[in-house]
Formats: sequence, C-alpha cells, structure tokens
Amino acid sequence: MTKTKEADLYIARSKSAAAYRHTYHIMPPVGWMNDPNGFSYALGKYHFFYQFHPYAAAWGPMHWGHYTSEDLIKWELAPTALAPDEPYDKDGCFSGSAIEREKKLYLLYTAVSGALQQQALALSEDGVTFRKKGLVISEKDLPRDASKTNFRDPKVFEKDGFFYAVIGSKHSEGAGQVLLYRSRDLENWEYAGCPWRTEGDELMCECPDYVRLGEKDLLLSSIQFLHRDGWRNENVHTARYLTGELDFGAGKFYPEIGDEVDSGFDFYAPQTLVTPDGRTVMIAWMQMWDRTYVTAPYGWVGATTLPRELSLKNGRLVQTPVRELEKYRKNPVKAENIAVLGERAIEGVRGTKCEISFTLDLGTAKRAGVKLFCGHNLEAVLFYDRASELVLFDRSNTGTLISGSTRERDALIRRCAVRVKENRIKFRLFLDVSSLEVFLNDGERTMTGLVYAPQDADGVVFFAEGGTAKIAEIEKYDIVL
Ligand code: FRU
Repeated sequence: MTKTKEADLYIARSKSAAAYRHTYHIMPPVGWMNDPNGFSYALGKYHFFYQFHPYAAAWGPMHWGHYTSEDLIKWELAPTALAPDEPYDKDGCFSGSAIEREKKLYLLYTAVSGALQQQALALSEDGVTFRKKGLVISEKDLPRDASKTNFRDPKVFEKDGFFYAVIGSKHSEGAGQVLLYRSRDLENWEYAGCPWRTEGDELMCECPDYVRLGEKDLLLSSIQFLHRDGWRNENVHTARYLTGELDFGAGKFYPEIGDEVDSGFDFYAPQTLVTPDGRTVMIAWMQMWDRTYVTAPYGWVGATTLPRELSLKNGRLVQTPVRELEKYRKNPVKAENIAVLGERAIEGVRGTKCEISFTLDLGTAKRAGVKLFCGHNLEAVLFYDRASELVLFDRSNTGTLISGSTRERDALIRRCAVRVKENRIKFRLFLDVSSLEVFLNDGERTMTGLVYAPQDADGVVFFAEGGTAKIAEIEKYDIVL
C-alpha cells in the first residue's frame, strides 16, 4: 500500500475529539497541521494543501494534506496528496506551492533527506492523485554561499512567460535570505539571484511568497528568531511583509515599506493565491512554534486563519476577510449609540462562532474595549489604552495558560498601534470556538490569537474605564457553514 493510502486509511479510522475544534476555519481531520501549502486556484477549484502529520498531534514526518473548495470557506477533505516515500524526500515533504500548467496541477515542494533540503516536483491530472517527478532544484543549483540544510519552501508563480520560484534560504554568514529561480517548464530551473537578505544573523527566511499587488511587488517571508522591536515581532518567529519593486532581470528586490503582517499571537507562514477575478488572498497557519499545544490531548493541533483579501492603502498592507464569508452570516443583531461606563452587555450580542463589528467612540475613557469568551469569571480582553496608544489583546485570564519559547517575553499579551480617527476605532472580530481574529480600522492592522476558555463561556461585555465610551454602531452575525 502507498504511504498516502496508509495515511487516508488512518484518517478514516481515527477521529479527533471535538474539544476546541473550530467551525469555519480549516483544520486537519486528525493529527498535526502547520504551514499552508499549494494554496491555489487550479483545474476549476480552490486547493489548499498543508504540512500534515496524520499519526500524532505533534510535528513529525511531513505529508501534504489536501482540501478543495468552491468558495474558499467551505472545504472538502481530499486524499492525502504527498507522503515522504522516496529516497530524496524520505525525511519529509516540507512546504511548497502549486500552479496549474496545461491542465495539470503541479506541486513544487521541499524534499528533505538527511541534512539536505532540495526542491521536488509532483503533478496531477485530476487534482486529486499526485505523481512525483523527482528533484528539480537540487544542491548543485545553489549559490556557493547558501546553506544546503536550510533551503526550503518554494513559492512558484508565473510572470512574462517564465515560471519563477522564491525559496527560503540562509546565507553562510548567518543572515536569512530569499533566493529566486527561473524556469520555462517547471522542470529545468536556473538560479536568478538573491532578491533579499535580512539584516542581522542567526535568522532564516521561511515560506517566502511573492505577488504583484496593485502598483507594487509584495514579498512575504516568515523569519525565524527575528528580534523584538517595541510592540512588533513579539512572537518567537514573525511573518513580515515588504512592498517594493522586484527586478526580475537583476534578481534584486528594492524594498520600500515593511512591517509584521499580524500583531497577534498565532500567525505564521502565510501564503497567497490570486482568484479568477483577480483578488489576492492570503491564508496563514493560526498557531506558533514552541507553544503549549492545548488541543494535543484531543488528537489535533493546528488551523488556518480566515482567507484574507490583500490590498495596499498608503503603501501599507490591508487585510479583509474574503467577501465569500458573508454568505454564511446568520441571525443579524444591530444596534447603535450605546453608552458604556464600567461594564455593559448588549442584548443579542454573545457567542463564540460569530462575527462582531463595532465602532468604538472612545469618549472620555482612558481604556475601552470588549471582553470576549466571558464566563466563570474568565475572559479574553481586547481594548485600546489611551496612555500607550496601543490596542491590547490579553488572553491571560481565559483559564488556560499558554506559554511559549523562552525567546518570547510571554505568550499572553500582544499589542499594536492603531490610528484613532475622530476619537474612534473600528473593530471587526471573528470568534470561532477557540480563536479570535481581529481586524482593526478595516484591516489596517490585524491581531490573531487562540483562546482556550471554558466551552460554555460565550459572554461578550463592553467596558470603559476612566470615563464614558460609546459603541457608535454594532453588528453581530453567527457564522454557520
Ligand atoms: C515553517 C516550516 C517550513 C518547513 C515546514 C516543515 O513553519 O519550518 O520552513 O518547510 O515548516 O514542516
């Protein structure tokens, strides 16, 4: 029996416990999930593959799990696409990407064998079963000063009659870098430059991604061990973006604006696709390395963020959940002009599988915001603090302590600066059983975090301290798939 069949039989026989499982986010059927892979629209459908270890709720020999969708929201489980079953990938089919060519779906992924990381190709005629073609970018294709053991996560895309791939790498002196390769046919590749290298060393650029976004080129990469910078980069590893211009001839990227992609706790390895109608959509792993994996005893770990449409505003990245999600809104509740002094609930606004959007008028308050997942004297708190001019997401009082790598200051509070316009801030929140995604001011900043509160803790309480605030308007919908 093939190793992918073996994985599928195991999945059919196993079931993870329901505890904390999300209802409208992608998760592994059982076992471990990390990075999104092969996120694409191909052969008439959306495809989502992911780093998958079916046999335990812990990282292990990497397979590629697979889901397909018509609308980016409702996903259907497909057979496991890749398993580590060839000498060149015997230690794992690591991250990579997908592209359609001549009515076939190609996967370009990192084949790990011992200390070597090289890039291999697999293809499918039906979008379901994949056949491996072997290594296509190997150690001999590396520039002399690049690591052979840190060469992974190719993101393939098409431009001006060529295929290109950006690949994560490490320079021999320790900086992280992104390498560029070029091909006519996806099988024969040539090195085309090192568009970007980090400042500082002991870093590694994982999961690079390139997309043309409006008038700019966007380069995403997930940087291991990036040092903290004020309220930025507080997690052990950080997904960053850079806008600028990529000169494909010279293989050089000229950066303009850069920042962390998300300012919450659990966001890594984002990957993009372009929809048939031209939108750029990004999805990321909604977890972090080296954390307390609260759901592991229940047989699963890992999920993705919502798919988010990307755009630029004043040169900066803006993220909004794809509009397809709105089809699944149920039970609307709307209200406006609600004064908040101390704590205040709003009729009909509660739940843990829902979208809540509101405009907060800060009034005279020193701190104001919302407590979520409230119950049993526990809560997650999201609020603006006037003194520091930051929005804070505090998950320290949810009943489940999450600790992280010693390189993180903590895994309980995250912060970000936000523009206050006319004394107001817009919040758009998505709660899904054990997750919270926050879009501030129409997606100018986002904060993503897992919250493991008691399962019946569904209270939502607004609050203001040091003065009176106002909920100028609020809308709440259940999200039901
Ligand atoms: C990022 C990463 C990738 C690698 C994969 C292995 O989260 O470390 O660089 O391909 O995970 O599962």
